[in-house]
Amino acid sequence: MNRKPIFAANWKMNKGVSETEDFIKSFLSKIQGQDFPAEIVIAPPFVSLPKLADLLHNANAVQNAHAIQIAAQNASQFDAGAYTGEVSVVMLRELYVHYVILGHSERRSIYGETDAVINAKIKKAREVNLKPIFCIGETLEEREGGKLETVLRTQITEGLKDVSEKDMLETVIAYEPVWAIGTGVTATSEQAQETHAFVRSVLADLYGADIAARIRIQYGGSVKPGNAAELMACPDIDGALIGGASLEPQSFMEIIRNGCAE
Ligand code: 13P
Repeated sequence: MNRKPIFAANWKMNKGVSETEDFIKSFLSKIQGQDFPAEIVIAPPFVSLPKLADLLHNANAVQNAHAIQIAAQNASQFDAGAYTGEVSVVMLRELYVHYVILGHSERRSIYGETDAVINAKIKKAREVNLKPIFCIGETLEEREGGKLETVLRTQITEGLKDVSEKDMLETVIAYEPVWAIGTGVTATSEQAQETHAFVRSVLADLYGADIAARIRIQYGGSVKPGNAAELMACPDIDGALIGGASLEPQSFMEIIRNGCAE
């Protein structure tokens, strides 16, 4: 099955407007002339989205740079109204945003997002054709307690409740073991492949094997230039969601390059 790998930078709460500009100028010069067989996505904080859209639009027009897609890190499950601090999916579309990260473990653990809330956000995103990057993952305690499969099956089943096959084909899954996020500890490629295969089997239960074989599943958690090739060589790993190592243009470029080397 030919699934185009997708490498997404999740900058979390890093890089305002001027740092975004510095990053993009440097990153574009590094990827210029390289034709990676992959999709490249950058998810800056909300406030940097307009600047990113401008910079990429100009770059694409002027230098025919590798097209980079823009992602948001979150979106509201509501349309509009009295929701202080929230940003709607329609607002994101106006800023040329194509992807939205939903259900990140930091949203779950720090902001109390439940599977039901994440499910509502996924469906709201699809109403305006935003592509969800739907994050799932277990804690170390859950893995060591033998609950890995139950936890992931619940997150997937509840998060995707009433999400149609058509919408599922526009959704990317990001498997991010919580214990590997920002810790420097990566899942071994065996652990990651085994878990990705399990995630795909749950998707097959829900949507059938044909659809499951077409859904991209990214790995996230301490992905670096040095481990990208080995992880991406696994048959069920279709790209990466990268935090810390995506903040430097050189290391983000190297992750993509090494990850595409397979
Ligand atoms: P790190 O790459 O910093 O471990 O973060 C992973 C992550 O949470 C991406 O969403």
